[in-house]
Amino acid sequence: MTFVIGADCVDVLDRACVEECPIDCIFIGDRMAYIQPDECIDCGACEPVCPVEAIHYEDDIPSGQEQFVDENARFFHEPLPGRTVALGQPGGATGVGVLGVDTVYVRDYQR
Ligand code: F3S
Ligand code: F3S
Repeated sequence: MTFVIGADCVDVLDRACVEECPIDCIFIGDRMAYIQPDECIDCGACEPVCPVEAIHYEDDIPSGQEQFVDENARFFHEPLPGRTVALGQPGGATGVGVLGVDTVYVRDYQR
């Protein structure tokens, strides 16, 4: 289990959560941010600082946003559009910087 970022982050991308994560596992895509599910230690520090309450414990993802649990994982486990290698566990988001790309589902997501 892990914390995940849901639909309310799309096109908001406030980034307050990034500052709170003690292990630097929140990565910036294009329209939203994503939590690396293999690295998140479930500390919960990110959840209360999001101004649009986009961060949820995996089991508590709001109805209708279930797909975002998969998309948070897909962002790391499968090659992103235009790439041939999955991001995996790069060992911290700061060094990676802004990815500037989303999963196909998020790219095409209609708010
Ligand atoms: Fe998104 Fe909220 Fe973080 S809008 S980038 S989940 S602070
Ligand atoms: Fe990071 Fe803790 Fe959130 S490990 S992603 S601040 S739950």
